[in-house]
Amino acid sequence: MSKHIPAFEKFIDDLRTAWKALPDTEARMTKGHQLLEELVKDESMRQASKSWPSTEGRKNLLFHEDQECGFAINGVVRMPGRKGSIHDHAHAWTAYGILDGSESLERFRRVDDRSKEGFAKLELESVTEGNAGKVDLVPPFDIHAEQGGPTRSVAVILRSERVAGKVLQGSYSTEGDLYRQIEGPTNIPYEIK
Ligand SMILES: [Fe+2]
Repeated sequence: MSKHIPAFEKFIDDLRTAWKALPDTEARMTKGHQLLEELVKDESMRQASKSWPSTEGRKNLLFHEDQECGFAINGVVRMPGRKGSIHDHAHAWTAYGILDGSESLERFRRVDDRSKEGFAKLELESVTEGNAGKVDLVPPFDIHAEQGGPTRSVAVILRSERVAGKVLQGSYSTEGDLYRQIEGPTNIPYEIK
């Protein structure tokens, strides 16, 4: 069996240790955030990512889904200037780390009373520019959009659990104030070597 590159192998081992030592998802993902910060500063990972395929068309690379602890590690490869849609990740926690290039993370606040079917009124709360090495921790149901930068960009995502294929997640549009629930991105198994 082929081995992952050492930095990625260590990331998985350290996550498994944290999952077993810590009592709840928030504590595990706070530790996972720190571990992902180390991973996305790793030069061997950045070099490996140069050959990862584009995930255009609502895809995610699936690097690892832990059978024992449940966390999932995905990759996203965006083309220059990619416009991201506004969404949430349902009840899962997500740490989103930029490995190569730059992206911006837009965060939104929902200001309607959720009484109207298919309707959501959003306000832009913040926009954070991120370069390689930056990790954002996104709590459950937080509404956000990841926007591509001027060059190809690559992100590694740690999810407290896989969402795609299990539960629906929220999708929002500020044009017309629309809300609907959609399937998550298609997961494409991919081995980091
Ligand atoms: Fe997201």
